[in-house]
Amino acid sequence: MDLEFCKKIKIFLFLVFFIAITINSNSQNKVTTFADTSRGVLMLVNKSYNLPIDYVPVELIAITETYGDSNKMMHKEAYDAFRKMHDDAKTDGVNIWITSAYRDFKYQNWLYNKSIEENGVVITDKTVAQPGFSEHQTGLAIDIVSARGKKLSKEFEKTKQFEWLSTHGHDYGYILRYPNGKESITGYEYEPWHFRYVGIETAQKIEKLNITLDEYYEQFVNIEVAPDTN
Ligand code: DAL
Ligand code: ZN
Repeated sequence: MDLEFCKKIKIFLFLVFFIAITINSNSQNKVTTFADTSRGVLMLVNKSYNLPIDYVPVELIAITETYGDSNKMMHKEAYDAFRKMHDDAKTDGVNIWITSAYRDFKYQNWLYNKSIEENGVVITDKTVAQPGFSEHQTGLAIDIVSARGKKLSKEFEKTKQFEWLSTHGHDYGYILRYPNGKESITGYEYEPWHFRYVGIETAQKIEKLNITLDEYYEQFVNIEVAPDTN
């Protein structure tokens, strides 16, 4: 093959590779990949796996006033599980209330930029996901408070609501997504209010093993299948 032609091919391939890496990097200089949304309620969205700008969960349901703030929506299966959890908690004398649920890319972008203006980029990147990188865009994540009008606060950890959710949440398919002491794995500060629906079986397994969804994914889901050598 002509030497000059080979050189051109090499330059072309290098440029394609460079452009792909540049497009697929966030401001934390991490290479990211699109989340595997075919995993359904098990999909992993974190600082490495993001959602496209136009990703909208297939079955979004409006939350009624019994369960949370008005004008909120969430994934149907997660909502059905939440309603059961809410009603059982109420029977135990515990009120839980959804204050944040599905957030589209545009709204997350607004939240992220507002936080940068108020708190700077370092604090923001530990507390608010960049647009496309928030679990709230899956419709499977909710922020829970103890009553309508309550603000998100680390004080939630001291409530009977938090105690109830920590004891029973996994039996309804919910896990605490950003636990205390797991910041280096999740990439986010402890959020006692942020719960993620993954289904009962997975939530119980995650609870039993005391791991995060990120670790669960690495250990049990994202496993490269060895090529069949027979
Ligand atoms: N606060 C969480 C990390 C979010 O913005 O999705
Ligand atoms: Zn949240």
